[in-house]
Amino acid sequence: MIIEAAPAKLNLALHVTGRRPDGYHLLDSLVCFAAVGDSIALTPGPLSLSIDGPFAAGLSTDDNLCLRAARLVGGQAAIRLTKALPVASGIGGGSADAAAVLRGLARMGHPLPEGTEWLGADVPVCLASTPARMQGVGEVLTPLSALPPLHLVLVNPGIAVPTPAIFAGLRSRDNPPLPPIPAFADVDALLGWLGTTRNDLQPPAIAAAPVIADVLRALEGQGAGLARMSGSGATCFGIFADPGAAERAAAALARNGWWAVATELASAPARG
Ligand code: C5P
Repeated sequence: MIIEAAPAKLNLALHVTGRRPDGYHLLDSLVCFAAVGDSIALTPGPLSLSIDGPFAAGLSTDDNLCLRAARLVGGQAAIRLTKALPVASGIGGGSADAAAVLRGLARMGHPLPEGTEWLGADVPVCLASTPARMQGVGEVLTPLSALPPLHLVLVNPGIAVPTPAIFAGLRSRDNPPLPPIPAFADVDALLGWLGTTRNDLQPPAIAAAPVIADVLRALEGQGAGLARMSGSGATCFGIFADPGAAERAAAALARNGWWAVATELASAPARG
């Protein structure tokens, strides 16, 4: 059996810089991965999918990105997806799972395919699962030198946010690109740089789900050096000074009935 982690994707910054004729949005995003995520197990055999884990409820085992990804490379495997992350929540979810299936199938002899962005905009960046600048609609990737260690808290208030509606709520689609991304000497340098950036999807997401503003305020109230939404939401992250502060913040935020975990950056997946 082959096991692949599907780490949570975080958009530390996300600028919407334009729109293609087909309606997809051009992005400029600093993406990294957290040490929490879903998990994929592959066993050779006819293609099938089963889903377990705390967020399995309501997910289809017939029409799932994992199956579409496997069919793309002709992969024959029983796929077990353990869903530990909230779904439709701005942290990669389906894209991370599909990328983990492709990485696992690569270890079983199916080369990684090109042009996977049509499966999900985040699939290409999730294939590498290492820090990157992501542009285009997700297919233009520039790997970044390692980020400083981060003590993170991820918080989801239990609302599934439909990505297309959030993009549709943007006031401007022609925002400036990210400023040049330096090699960050430490967390303070990263925080300083992040302070000059945004997640352009945060205002329309808050308009659709005002609880997101409560989550951000709560993260700041717990002492986060930066609190921001990831992707199209509703999951938000906070960057904390040390692991203890992150653990205390996660425990406090969970008392609101929110999903909240303290975590770190993911280490890079093994290459198959
Ligand atoms: O590819 P993914 O499933 O993440 O996209 C969901 C929806 O979000 C798309 O159908 C599209 O409406 C919107 N989207 C977009 N521009 C992107 C990524 C997603 O408009 N770069």
